[in-house]
Amino acid sequence: MDKLLREKDIQEYLNVSRSTLWRFKQKGLPTIKIGKTNRYKLEDVKKWVAEETLPFYAIAEKKVKPKAEQIINTYQIDFEYLLRHNEKYLKKILNKNEIDFLYETLKGTNTNNFTNQDYVITFSKVYLSILKIRYQKETKHKKYNPQLNKFMNQNIGDIKMIWGNSLNILKQMKSESIQLMVTSPPYYNARAYSQWENLNLYLEDMRKIIRESYRVLDNNRVWVWNVGDIFDNDRLYTKSVWGKRRIPLGAYFIKIFEEEGFEFVDDIIWDKGSVESKRHMNNGNNIPFYQYPFNSYEHILIFHKHRLDKTRIPCPVCGSLKVNGNTQSEIGVQSWECKNEKCFVRSPNNRGKRFSLRTNMMQYYHENDIRNEIDKYTIKKWQKDIVKINPVIKINSKGKNILGHSAPFPTDIPEMAIKYFTYIDENVLDPFAGSFTTPLVARKLGRNGIGIELNRELYRNAIIERVITELNGSHYNEIDLL
Ligand SMILES: C[S@@+](CC[C@H](N)C(=O)[O-])C[C@H]1O[C@@H](n2cnc3c(N)ncnc32)[C@H](O)[C@@H]1O
Ligand SMILES: [Zn+2]
Repeated sequence: MDKLLREKDIQEYLNVSRSTLWRFKQKGLPTIKIGKTNRYKLEDVKKWVAEETLPFYAIAEKKVKPKAEQIINTYQIDFEYLLRHNEKYLKKILNKNEIDFLYETLKGTNTNNFTNQDYVITFSKVYLSILKIRYQKETKHKKYNPQLNKFMNQNIGDIKMIWGNSLNILKQMKSESIQLMVTSPPYYNARAYSQWENLNLYLEDMRKIIRESYRVLDNNRVWVWNVGDIFDNDRLYTKSVWGKRRIPLGAYFIKIFEEEGFEFVDDIIWDKGSVESKRHMNNGNNIPFYQYPFNSYEHILIFHKHRLDKTRIPCPVCGSLKVNGNTQSEIGVQSWECKNEKCFVRSPNNRGKRFSLRTNMMQYYHENDIRNEIDKYTIKKWQKDIVKINPVIKINSKGKNILGHSAPFPTDIPEMAIKYFTYIDENVLDPFAGSFTTPLVARKLGRNGIGIELNRELYRNAIIERVITELNGSHYNEIDLL
């Protein structure tokens, strides 16, 4: 008689948690009841796993609730099947060249050991890349610079330094070619490099950059904007010292981002810790109207881009383009329902699979790469929307500026942004890169780190020194577009 395995052994064999094993049982993993405990026959388990239509990781995936969706069909999928099944829609949506490109690309794909899900996902990705190339052609700026685009995407693993003016450089970039933007912008008048005549001129300059960044940022992606409120003269009404006031840059930027099409999602407060200055003590006047707390935080603003796109996308489970447009699950996010009667899953109330470009990205297109998993330490650190991080110490004990920059932000900010909002190998851009903190962190986390900086004379040497020290070698490429 075959040996019966215990729950623990089978968990180990399948390499799944207890709760996933429980889900598998709900889905029909064969067990043998002995008294109150479950035992397993290895042969039966192996057979069940092999027969499952969904590949293993999709079943194990936490979001597919076994009770909510049932598997209803088992048959073999391949590219030929998908192309035939979707022919009518492909002809409607794509032109002749695009269809040829789709056929050729799929034909050239190595399909060894491909599961149904692998075929579906690969087909979907190639199809989506065709739509993207088309969109990029239709929306490129007249200043589009193919040379810059090539520079950004070659030598993956090197930091890309672009010397130039952000607005001008963004115009030269491809639409939707960056998966995350992170920065702390030049702060109106707060530092030597800021030189605007008044607050409104500053905000209008920033608005132009934010507008152009909307085009360049990929769809359903994120902008992380770190800015502090400042105490300064807005120079709108008076230029005298009396015109100084608290300027809520965070609030102003939220409004600008919204007006430029972004969705405001979060304002994480960076608690900069204890206050060293004694300015807030107001000479010991401990009577009303003398005392105000000293500002000791900055904003980490998080915005989403959701550009509404109503072009049909394939069902992530069966690859069918026979889908119906539902309402938008979120403003700007088109939601779909699979209408393929031979689709593999149906909801308990007999509806087809529901999905969007965003949920497909989150649940299907990057699922099997564990390098995307965020470590527990980071999640714990950023659990609340007030996070204490000490400001960067840039002056060493001898009074020398070791980072070569007067206002670097702590690595913690781009680190969170990159781990939370990008997948491995994707493009991360800081359009005000300063000492290149963002691209450096991106590179260390396996992403393609790109920075734009205007002030080459001031910073170049220090930046290169920093890159070489931190990356143990000249892992950088530069392009001069000043
Ligand atoms: C607050 S600093 C960024 C610091 C950076 N996060 C770091 O860790 O070093 C802003 C930077 O933007 C640069 N800058 C200002 N205007 C710019 C523009 N139009 N294009 C590109 N860079 C610009 C400044 O030279 C400055 O280095
Ligand atoms: Zn389907």
